[in-house]
Amino acid sequence: MSNILIVDDEIELCHFLNYLLCDLGHAVTVCTSGEDFDRAIMEKEFELAFLDIRLPDRNGLDILQHLKQRQPLCKVVVMTGYGTIKTAVSAIKFGADDFIEKPFDNIEDIELLTEQLLVKGSAPADHEALELASRLNCFIGKNEEMNQLYKLAYKFAKKNVTVLIEGETGTGKEVLAHFIHHASKRAGSPFIGVNCGAIQENLLESELFGHTKGAFTGAAKEKKGYFEQAGKGTLFLDEIGEASLATQVKLLRVLETGEFIKVGGETIKKNQARLIAASHVNLEEAVENGTFREDLLYRIDVVKLTIPPLRKRVEDIPQLVDYYLKQHELGLSFTPDTIECLCKYNWPGNMREFVNMIKRVAALAEGETAIITPHYLPSKLMSNSKYLASANVPTAVHQSIPAIEMNFADYLREWCQQMIDTWEDDDVVDLHHVLQMIKSMEVETLQAIIKKALKRTVGDRKQAAEQLGISLRTLRYYLNEKK
Ligand SMILES: Nc1ncnc2c1ncn2[C@@H]1O[C@H](COP(=O)(O)OP(=O)(O)OP(=O)(O)O)[C@@H](O)[C@H]1O
Ligand SMILES: [Mg+2]
Repeated sequence: MSNILIVDDEIELCHFLNYLLCDLGHAVTVCTSGEDFDRAIMEKEFELAFLDIRLPDRNGLDILQHLKQRQPLCKVVVMTGYGTIKTAVSAIKFGADDFIEKPFDNIEDIELLTEQLLVKGSAPADHEALELASRLNCFIGKNEEMNQLYKLAYKFAKKNVTVLIEGETGTGKEVLAHFIHHASKRAGSPFIGVNCGAIQENLLESELFGHTKGAFTGAAKEKKGYFEQAGKGTLFLDEIGEASLATQVKLLRVLETGEFIKVGGETIKKNQARLIAASHVNLEEAVENGTFREDLLYRIDVVKLTIPPLRKRVEDIPQLVDYYLKQHELGLSFTPDTIECLCKYNWPGNMREFVNMIKRVAALAEGETAIITPHYLPSKLMSNSKYLASANVPTAVHQSIPAIEMNFADYLREWCQQMIDTWEDDDVVDLHHVLQMIKSMEVETLQAIIKKALKRTVGDRKQAAEQLGISLRTLRYYLNEKK
């Protein structure tokens, strides 16, 4: 028998849950207001709580935080109603173990969740998420943010909500989209990926929605569009930030109405696919710059998942090396100083760059050695190793201006040298890598200039933004203060 707390202002729902949980043999305390809740947690220790996120006299997230502070071992399930799904995301970030949607459509799910939380001490979703990731060869590592991200993704995968994935180039946005598809009830249906920036304007409508035979010159046969191809599966709208304004209007229409019509057709079709959008640019910023529609962002940003860049999880690099070598049965071992170089590098191309690096090292070492020393690494990894990845830089270094200036000047010199090396290299140039270098230089430059301005204004962000001729929001965005 466990002590379970229910906090909800809907009396009928409380009765129902009370009945269900008592029937399972638990001692239940029901609170219908914030005031009742305050009293209850003073009197008893609870093992599990079901919390309504919207109470008339108190914010549900405050209640959650209060409960977690006073009784940290108490597991929490938040109950969300229509329109509060975004709050559920915050609740999970604030420490809730899981959430259920009201009205309840599956009693067995509640029983199972209760049992799992009380007996195993974690929501079934959490270990299932990690198992699925491992089955899909998707590396998560120990980094807390990545773990939370994948667990959150798993929880929302089962719900019928649109998901937006943001993250720098190569961080694994498509990998995460596949993971969500496989974690959802749609796993048996198709996963269709579309690069929104690559859709030809004149074919736009027929690409998205298909066309009937004879709809236009050249339409010799009836054709299914992406929405129809995805069926009851997942439609992955990759690089949605690069969609033209015309594409954005068409997508918005389907998201608003849930319907589309084939070019030349008359029948209205229902969209049954779940949409997952991804972008390497920050879409809020794009809205501010006028390149992305605010109404479309509102529709796709129901659940936003932001993948951290590899340089922010360098603690996982040694394990990532092992993981990759084992997965590809590469009988190699990296010496400690080689691993150190990898940990100190900035990884502008993130996971993609990492995978390419290991492939290159394996090709170089083949038939020569099984022990990988720093000599086998691309030169940029060795030379850059003296620039600590930002996660490792003590804050004091960031704050003192001479250090910033010196670091940045060194960085620029190094960057130019690398670019010259690449230019003079007779090997085929990896253009993707060059673009990553340019992007990362852009970020470093903006940050260095902003930090210098902040030093001048003694930390006054508003004044610094004015001096630089940008909005405060843009300044915070460049400093990565806003996700
Ligand atoms: N979690 C992961 N585990 C294993 N490999 C990964 C993971 N994330 C990314 N990768 C590898 O990194 C490469 C890039 O991943 P992906 O295409 O998903 O990135 P992306 O964020 O969509 O990149 P882009 O912004 O360029 O479209 C892939 O080869 C993938 O195998
Ligand atoms: Mg991608």
